[in-house]
Parts: sequence; C-alpha cells; structure tokens
Amino acid sequence: MVILSVKPLFMILVVPLALLLAVALLSPPSPYSQSFLPSNSSLKPSIWTVRRIIGWRPCKWWQLGDLTVAELKSNGYIRVDCYGGLNQMRRDLCDGVGIARLLNATLVLPKFEVAAYWNESSGFADVFDVEYFIHQMNGFIKVVKELPSEIASQEPFQVDCSKRKGQFDYIESVLPSLLEHHYISITPAMSQRRDRYPQNAKAALCQACYNALRLTGSLEKKASELLEAIPKPFLSLHLRFEPDMVAYSQCQYSGLSSASIKAIEAAQGDRKPWTGELARIWRKRGKCPLTPNETAFILQSLSIPTNTNIYLAAGDGLMEIEGLTSVYTNVVTKSGLLTGEDFTSMHGNTKAALDYYVSINSDSYVATYFGNMDKMVAAMRVFKGLYKTLFLSRRAFADFTSQGLRGRDLMQALWKAHRDDYVLGRGSALPDCFCEVKL
Ligand SMILES: *[C@@H]1O[C@H](CO)[C@@H](O)[C@H](O)[C@H]1NC(C)=O
Ligand SMILES: *[C@@H]1O[C@H](CO)[C@@H](O)[C@H](O)[C@H]1NC(C)=O
Ligand SMILES: *[C@@H]1O[C@H](CO)[C@@H](O)[C@H](O)[C@H]1NC(C)=O
Ligand SMILES: *[C@@H]1O[C@H](CO)[C@@H](O)[C@H](O)[C@H]1NC(C)=O
Repeated sequence: MVILSVKPLFMILVVPLALLLAVALLSPPSPYSQSFLPSNSSLKPSIWTVRRIIGWRPCKWWQLGDLTVAELKSNGYIRVDCYGGLNQMRRDLCDGVGIARLLNATLVLPKFEVAAYWNESSGFADVFDVEYFIHQMNGFIKVVKELPSEIASQEPFQVDCSKRKGQFDYIESVLPSLLEHHYISITPAMSQRRDRYPQNAKAALCQACYNALRLTGSLEKKASELLEAIPKPFLSLHLRFEPDMVAYSQCQYSGLSSASIKAIEAAQGDRKPWTGELARIWRKRGKCPLTPNETAFILQSLSIPTNTNIYLAAGDGLMEIEGLTSVYTNVVTKSGLLTGEDFTSMHGNTKAALDYYVSINSDSYVATYFGNMDKMVAAMRVFKGLYKTLFLSRRAFADFTSQGLRGRDLMQALWKAHRDDYVLGRGSALPDCFCEVKL
C-alpha cells in the first residue's frame, strides 16, 4: 500500500492530488515518446525539468519565535547528550531542544559524543558555531554557555530516554528528575511522539534543527574549498553501499566481487541474509540498499546525462563503485579533491560535515537511502530554495524487477515512479517543520 517512506501526511495529500496529477501528466509528452536514448543526449529532458505541483517551505508558525520565553521561570538546566554519526547526533539535538523547551528548562550547550568507530573526540563546538547557535536560539529557548557557579562543578544527573521502552510522557517521566537535580542530561528517544508538544516546543525544535546550526569557521572554510573544487553544475549523490549497511540490511546480492563478499561477511556477525521467499518479500518491501550499478541504471532512467558532474557524498568504504563510474564518468570524491594533510588528518565527523555542506549547496541532490543525513540535507535544501532533490526508490526498483521488467520497460516504469514523487514533492522535506505549498 504505502510507497517509499511516505509519511501519513502524504497519504492525505495523494488522493486529491491524484486527480490534479492525472490532468498535469496528460499534457507533457513522455520523454521516451520519440526516441529512447539511454545516454547523455542533452536533447532529452531530465527529471529536473518536470513541472512540480507540490513544493515545500519552512512553516511560518515556527519562524516567528516564542514571545513567552523571556519571562519563563526555568525548571533547571538540561544538557542534550548526542551519540552516533554526525547526522544522528544532530537529529537528537533537535529533539532534545524540543524536550528542554517542553520542560521549561534552560539549555546548556549539547554534548556530542562520537561513536567509537570514528575514533575521534569531536564535540559540538568542533563542528558547529556556538555563538551562532546561541544567537539563533534567542527567543526560542534560553541557552547558556556557562552554568551558574553552584552547579557548575557537578556532573548532570543522566536521564537516558533512549533506553525507555514504548511511549512515555516527558513531563511525567523527566520533569521530576529535573526539579530534583536542577541539572540533568538527556539522550532523547527516537520513538517518542512530538505531536503532543505545545507549539513553542515544536518551534524551538525546528529552529534548533534548521536555522541555528552553522559549521565552525574553519570547517566551513575547508568545505567551501571543496565546493569550489567540484566542477559545476553538479549533482551530489549520497550512495550507501558499504559492508555494514549491506550486512545490516540482510539482503542478498548476486554478482558481487569476492572482495565485497568478504567485507560483507566480516560485517555480518550473526545477522545472516534472508533466503528464499523471505528474501524476496524483504526486497520487495524496499529494504535492500541500491548497488552502484542499480543506482546508475535509475539515474539513466531519470534521463540524468551520463556526463553529469557527480560529487560522491559517501565514506571510503563504498563497494562496487565501478558499477557507477563505468557509466557516469565524471564522478569526484572529497579524497580525490582534497589531498592536503589538513584533510587526511580529518576524521569521520568532520568529513561527514563536508559532505553535508556540499550537498546543501549542490545543484541537485540524489539519495539512494532515506537516512538521517538525507532528511537533514533535503530539509536544508528546501530552506535554501533548492528543490532538485530526489530519493531513489528501492521499493519501486525491487517491485518492477520482480515483475520481470527489464531494459527499456524498466527504465520507463522507474521514470514514471520517480517523476510522480518529484511532481508531488514526496520525500523532499520533513513534514514536522515544513509545510507543503501548491506551485
Ligand atoms: C556522451 O558522453 C560521451 C563520453 O562522456 C561523449 O563522447 C559523447 O560525445 C556524449 N554524447 C552526447 C550526445 O553528448
Ligand atoms: C512552562 O511554563 C508555562 C508558562 O508559565 C506553564 O504554563 C507550563 O505549565 C510550564 N510547563 C512546565 C512543564 O513546567
Ligand atoms: C585510534 O587513534 C589512535 C591514536 O590516534 C590510534 O593509535 C589507533 O590506532 C586508532 N584506532 C583505530 C581503530 O583507528
Ligand atoms: C549492471 O550490471 C549488469 C551485470 O553485470 C550489466 O549487464 C549492466 O550493464 C550493468 N548496468 C549498469 C548501468 O552499469
């Protein structure tokens, strides 16, 4: 029933829009109607030239700020503790700010703790501009850089919401600790519902997430150097086909190199891939990461010319990359463009920040997955008025190939599926802080 990672909101949208869409789609001729050239012919219009019906904007209700925050009596101090990858930490920061505002707390600068596999110690201030954050949060939530002396020496009381099971209420379960200890640290829980937050808490969350984070000066300098070095115009492609990703997906692939198979097996542990009917169902549900080869095929289906400049926003562990680079020949990576020692000594956290920066400034952005980075980048692109953003549909690809579609028929089906997503603005922004507009 549900296509892609479509939010319920979209389902409400889709029905009335289907009519509108039907009308709109009858008029422009199919790009394949005259000739079918799976190549870089500039005569054939790309997906980006299709007229969109729905677009996204940041909602007005949160941009205005919150006039009550200045007079609030604070219930205590909250530090948001964030773990994992850069974009996961950022997501937790957004949630944490919302919770702090919900509890009428004063925010202490967040703690960014980096996962062990990154082997580094990059904190919030190493990645994001602290002064800018404090300035931008003014009028949304109180933020302090320093704690008052009576609590400055103490460690915060830790409340790890991510360990709590099921739905719970932050006021009921966290406020008592805050009132008792005056200074707590929280790790937000992904599963908690935000829909019951008052508007001011949602506004603080949106502002923190999308309008208060800017890279530190030195990181931004490095990132803009990288941006400048990329041939223009360019597409930023977030490709996820790393051993841990593939192992985690429990999907089976045929035709992988023996090096890839070894790397996947090493990352697998006890998590063996599904086999037989289960594997088929799993794949049809869109659970399997797209290979670089499949990605190249879908990009061609979208009439994205094979001579397009592509920036690969990805880590070093990508497997089977020849599947892409044998078709799309103008692919650049950060490690190819930045070779100085300041780059080679950079770690995962800061490298991820470079990919993020380039991706929110690229002419177009295509993601093969719908992860934290993709959600963040899509939202920031909307914020900047960059609308050429698309999530490739693993589900559509699996669905069509399991129906036996191949070659030109498969390309045409993929074109239609992605065109509909693009026309309807599906997946280009997060509904929480963004509102759809008819174009
Ligand atoms: C397509 O790209 C190839 C190599 O990238 C080039 O040789 C060829 O001229 C291009 N064709 C068109 C129609 O642009
Ligand atoms: C936060 O402050 C507002 C306004 O004073 C009050 O209505 C609300 O109950 C407070 N919430 C908490 C959790 O203290
Ligand atoms: C982590 O960093 C230390 C010091 O830079 C280094 O000696 C060690 O080998 C690194 N560990 C990994 C797993 O990269
Ligand atoms: C993908 O791989 C298959 C099998 O190796 C090959 O036939 C096909 O041409 C490749 N497609 C692309 C787009 O590279």
